This record gives sequence, C-alpha cells and structure tokens, in this order.
Amino acid sequence: MKELKEIVTIDGPAGSGKSTAAFLVARELDAVLLDTGAIYRCVALVAAERGVSNEDAHALAEMARTLEISFQNDLSELGGRSTGRVFVDGIDVSEKIRTPRVSSDASKISAYPEVRAELLQLQRKQAWKEGDKSLIVAEGRDMGTVVFPDAPHKFFLVADAETRAERRYKELVEKGSDVSYAQVLEDQKERDRRDEQRQASPLRPAEDACIVDTTKMGLSEVVEGILKQISNNRKKRNVGRTKR
Ligand code: DC
Repeated sequence: MKELKEIVTIDGPAGSGKSTAAFLVARELDAVLLDTGAIYRCVALVAAERGVSNEDAHALAEMARTLEISFQNDLSELGGRSTGRVFVDGIDVSEKIRTPRVSSDASKISAYPEVRAELLQLQRKQAWKEGDKSLIVAEGRDMGTVVFPDAPHKFFLVADAETRAERRYKELVEKGSDVSYAQVLEDQKERDRRDEQRQASPLRPAEDACIVDTTKMGLSEVVEGILKQISNNRKKRNVGRTKR
C-alpha cells in the first residue's frame, strides 16, 4: 500500500514568485519539490526537437506518454539556484527548457486536454517517486484544483502584471538574454490569457486555497507566511483529530 504523503500545492501565474517560494518552502521542510511547469516544458522542447507540430494534440499526448522525465532535486546542494536539474530520457535539459520559445510552446501545448490527461498521471507518479520523503511541495497551475485536490495546504500566488514582467525581465537579462521589457510583458499577457481561458484546467485558485498577493512582498515574507500557514493548518488538523 502507498504511504500517505502530505502535500503542499503552490499555484499561480508566471512571475508570481511561486517557483522560488516553492523551492525555499521545500528546502525548509525537507520536502520533495515537484516543478510541474518543467514537465510541460520538457514536452514542448522534445516536440520542437522532433518536429512534432504544436497543433497535433494526439501526437503530443502520445509523445508525452513515452518520455522518461526525471528530476535531480537535492535541494541542499542547489546553492543559489531555485530550480532542480531536469532530465529527459537521461539527458540534462535544465537550461534548454527555460528559453522564451519553450515558455510560449509549453503554454500552447498545455491547453490540450489529451496532453493534460497524460501529464496528470505522470505528475502524480513523479510525486511518489522519491519514496523516503513524506512531504511534497507541488507547484504549477492546477495543483490545488486538479492534480492534488485533497491536499491539506493550498496556496495561490498572485502579483500585478507589471511586477511579474519586471521580475521575469530581470531574470532573463541576468542570464544574458537580449529581450526588452515590453516584449516580456507582451509575451506574459499572451501566456496569462491562454492559461486562464483554456477549457481544460484553466489557471484559477482552488476554493480552499490561501491567496497570497506578492506584489509588494519580499521573498522571505512570502515564504515565512506560507510556512506559518502550514504550521497553523497542521495544528488545526491535530486539534480536529483529538476532538473526535
Ligand atoms: O510554471 P512554468 O512557467 O514553468 O509553466 C510553463 C507552462 O506550462 C505554463 O505556461 C502553463 C503550463 N503549465 C500548466 O498548464 N499546468 C501546470 N501544472 C504547470 C504548467
């Protein structure tokens, strides 16, 4: 029988700070970190490399089924980086999946229900792969609504569009990318629109998610708030158990 895991979900739009917050929360709690955006990005990358069309939902889903995606997530050894290493069929694709082209392709292919259904299984399996840890921090767009609807700790991070684009712009410039802020903002608006308006699992908070507006918050404040809420949730659940 599968061991019961405690799941923390962190969802939100691009640039809301969810990836870095999820990384720090996972490190603090010694949890498995599940970066589900990276999974969608892997499918987009391999599709482009193999010449599978962005419009062919069936072929994309077939391809997703056969990909062997794995993470190397020793959080203590990651230093300043906020994401782990990602491998497809044993090949390290960690940098390749972070380009603007892959961001845009991942957003397009994630609209197909066939692709989402395939990746739903993969995400749940991936969460159970690292057998020795009982806590999972899963970040993405539909962790609290679809992939782990019974998770006891759900967070949805938001921030205004300009602040999110500024964060992304800085990140890309630091990596040596030659983009303009206006282009980053434009791409982000397009992605937000697609993520929010798609039929299958649109980006939206779960009813029981705690909404955190990070526009004016520093990262440590966001992380501390999440950790505090998890601790409060645990206390409440324990009280509930002893009362019964
Ligand atoms: O979080 P990210 O920017 O790495 O995600 C890349 C794309 O993947 C994003 O535009 C939407 C999609 N995605 C999704 O649809 N569902 C998830 N759980 C995670 C990502």
